[in-house]
Amino acid sequence: MKRRPLVAGNWKMNILYPEAKELFGAINEAAATLTGDVDIMIAPPSLYLRWFVKDSTARVTVGAQDVSQREETEGAFTGEISAAILASSGVEYAIVGHSERRAYHGETDEIIQKKIQACVKAGLTPVYCCGEKLDERESGRHFDVVRNQISTALKDFTASELSKLVIAYEPVWAIGTGKTASSEQAQEMHAEIRKLIHSLFGESFAKSLRILYGGSCKPSNADSIFSQPDVDGGLIGGAALKAKDFMDIIRAAS
Ligand code: PGA
Repeated sequence: MKRRPLVAGNWKMNILYPEAKELFGAINEAAATLTGDVDIMIAPPSLYLRWFVKDSTARVTVGAQDVSQREETEGAFTGEISAAILASSGVEYAIVGHSERRAYHGETDEIIQKKIQACVKAGLTPVYCCGEKLDERESGRHFDVVRNQISTALKDFTASELSKLVIAYEPVWAIGTGKTASSEQAQEMHAEIRKLIHSLFGESFAKSLRILYGGSCKPSNADSIFSQPDVDGGLIGGAALKAKDFMDIIRAAS
């Protein structure tokens, strides 16, 4: 089955507002001329979400970089943004479990499971990030690590609850380092993830699940990574901050 590719730009804590509006405008404009099949999602700093939602199109949608683990719609949780608040503001996606959240905010797959639960309840599309660290790959434990992450984060869900789920495989050693997984390394991990998802949620769910690659993806390597049969697009950090690079990557996926 051919899955519709998704290319998501994670802007992280970058870009002041005037330039951010300009960049979003440039992406929107270029995206309007695309002919191929591809979905685009931009995850800007959260303060910009509502402004971007107003300018979003059917092709270019908006996502949050994170979401509260609390299932409550509202409550006394200073600094938190609930999935319901995001959804009610027109945000469609939320990235959950990014390795920077795991590293700097102590997020575990148990916490991430709750975030996915909150997204499911609010109707947001969770983009669940997983991936091994360098020492885990070097010691040959990468498949086990990623399988454990996914099995914990997706515990206790039914296939229908996860119908919108997107998984992003992001080897930690490739994020922001300029080191990319080879297309073979990406493909073998994506195939392994799909196999695990098949065993957990069945064949048709596994066949339709979009699995993105992330980690130093750029115009020069996007083609070879996206041409792999189990890679359905990318989660892009640094290269999403330049309209031309980001659009080149999107064209490679479409
Ligand atoms: P990068 O980041 O493309 O800058 O490596 C990817 C990510 O963190 O999602």
